[in-house]
Amino acid sequence: MPGKSPIRIETRFTPREVDELHFKDKNVVVIDVLRASTTIAVALRNGAKEIIPVANVESAVKISGSLFGDVTLRAGERNARRIEGFNLGNSPREFTEAVVRGKSIIFMTTNGTSAMARGRHARKQIIAGFINLSMVVNFLRDLMSDFIILCAGRENGFCIEDAVCAGKIINRLAGDSEPELILDDSGRAAAALDMNFGADILKMLERSTHGAYLSEIGFAEDLKVCGELDSVSVLPVLSGSVIRVNKQDNTRTA
Ligand code: MLT
Repeated sequence: MPGKSPIRIETRFTPREVDELHFKDKNVVVIDVLRASTTIAVALRNGAKEIIPVANVESAVKISGSLFGDVTLRAGERNARRIEGFNLGNSPREFTEAVVRGKSIIFMTTNGTSAMARGRHARKQIIAGFINLSMVVNFLRDLMSDFIILCAGRENGFCIEDAVCAGKIINRLAGDSEPELILDDSGRAAAALDMNFGADILKMLERSTHGAYLSEIGFAEDLKVCGELDSVSVLPVLSGSVIRVNKQDNTRTA
């Protein structure tokens, strides 16, 4: 009996590496471990109706102006701090059930939501972090198709936490007997980084450039939330311009 066809995985360490049309009709996994991916998964787990990622503050203000006030929240950061006039910043600990249940959240972050916006022409875009890694891996196992991992990075450059998360996804899939995975050099490097740094995620986050910055400005507790592997059974999916929980969500673990 013929085996499953190989899966080609393209890994991008920063969104700027390619034009947004590169993602057209592809399956894309966007990673921003610190902290947009984590915050989105936590908000949806806590009952937020939807997240609308925007690439800049102007769009956030414009879109929220056209929506109904008390069911819409504006959330986002500049230099990791809440944007003036917004209801929430980008700390996953702010997105409690009491605050977000039933709400539409317009969300603007420096690297994360602009990576999501860049991948908006994708056939399917899912949002990944350590906290929902098994949900992501299970989705990709069911998908059985080529995909791109798009790391949000930091200030248009490489960041280790997104790369290690990408490597962990790849290594989990590589542990399956089939299909064969075809990796590019970035994917191989990500897998190696996970081997080196992925065993102690919190330590890796604490030593990362952005993790150290977050700790310095008072968000050290966020690193614990962002590094807690498989703590949230939610798969956020971008459909049109809105992120919601995947309809076919399941709860099995990888
Ligand atoms: C981003 O999108 O750049 C981040 O999520 C920054 C942050 O830690 O708030």
